[in-house]
Amino acid sequence: MGKILVTGGAGYIGSHTCVELLSSGYEVVVVDNLENSSKKAIERVESISGKNLDLVIGDIRDEKILDKIFMNQMVDSVIHFAGYKAVGESVEFPLKYYENNVSGTILLLEKMKEYNVKNIVFSSSATVYGDPHEVPIKEGFPLKPYNPYGKTKRMVEMILEDLYESDKSWNIALLRYFNPVGAHESGLIGEDPRGIPNNLTPYITQVAVGKLKKLSVFGNDYPTKDGTGVRDFIHVKDLALGHVRAIEKIMEKPGLFCVNLGTGKGYSVLEVLKAFEKACKKEIPYSIEPRRPGDIAKCYADTNYAKEFLKWEAMFGIEKMAEDAWNWQKNNPDGYGDN
Ligand code: NAD
Ligand code: WQD
Repeated sequence: MGKILVTGGAGYIGSHTCVELLSSGYEVVVVDNLENSSKKAIERVESISGKNLDLVIGDIRDEKILDKIFMNQMVDSVIHFAGYKAVGESVEFPLKYYENNVSGTILLLEKMKEYNVKNIVFSSSATVYGDPHEVPIKEGFPLKPYNPYGKTKRMVEMILEDLYESDKSWNIALLRYFNPVGAHESGLIGEDPRGIPNNLTPYITQVAVGKLKKLSVFGNDYPTKDGTGVRDFIHVKDLALGHVRAIEKIMEKPGLFCVNLGTGKGYSVLEVLKAFEKACKKEIPYSIEPRRPGDIAKCYADTNYAKEFLKWEAMFGIEKMAEDAWNWQKNNPDGYGDN
């Protein structure tokens, strides 16, 4: 067991991953500037797992912070979540996205190289596939991200590919997540978006809890089973366990690899809505609205490579995702309460 530096570890996926890392016996140090998260998430990670971690409140773009961490902590591997993730905002403020997601990662990699820490798991996204020519999506499909956020993800993948070509002693996992949803079953940690949620499931739970009036379903004229968009929703705990598996794999010194983390199943927006109505035991008002610009009809993963290579497979279905997301929202109507 080693020590893992988790950048962005106070965030949604990061906090759930910290729980699973600590529960699996890893030591964890988190660096997070708390720009999109709360210190309470870390306190709750510690109470769920019954273990402590080191939290460094700071920015990965701050060389001194990284020096301090790598000098004082015997870090074996890095899981790199820190970055911005809002697609619409990335269209409006592309430089902000390239600066944090790309430049921030370059500094992190330079420091890792300097301190001879050459194991990294990177948070990539299914968004790098753009609008796929068919589904399910295999890792070898063409890569054509079409918004600045997606381009930052692909750029970092390319930087990591080149880095690996230049020095084969790096071990690099590119994990392409599909649509993470749900929360820890304790209801203590979960997704806490700032302002009005962009994503489907936090929007639904905020309608259910009475904070928003109704869900707008963006388009019902897609070539899908019921006309609404189809996505591969994956429970955040499954995703977190995928990271633990990726770290185990990294210890085997596999070189560079890239895997989809999804369930392989596609659910439509209306099917998701029904699953949440069942979990919340109430009707969730909605109306059909025009398509959201930039959306695609269908996106779900081919999971064969993850099963074969990573020996990882998602366990939870949409019912459990809805139950856990609702449990978090109803126990924490205002999230961590410090947004
Ligand atoms: P999140 O915003 O909840 O977590 C990101 C964390 O990084 C936050 O705690 C934020 O405060 C921190 N952060 C941002 N910039 C930082 C910086 N420069 N220095 C230090 N900390 C910084 O997001 P998330 O949903 O947990 O996503 C984690 C990663 O996974 C991101 O890289 C995201 O792009 C990627 N991803 C997310 C999704 C999704 O739908 N949630 C899908 C695919 C990929
Ligand atoms: C899902 C479906 C919407 C909100 C985004 C990013 C992607 C990745 C995951 C980071 C679509 C519909 C949504 C609403 C709706 N993130 N919808 N009403 O767009 O698949 O993926 O998050 O890497 O990069 O693009 O997720 O949850 O926004 O939308 O009808 O209020 O729900 O049209 O069909 P998306 P989403």
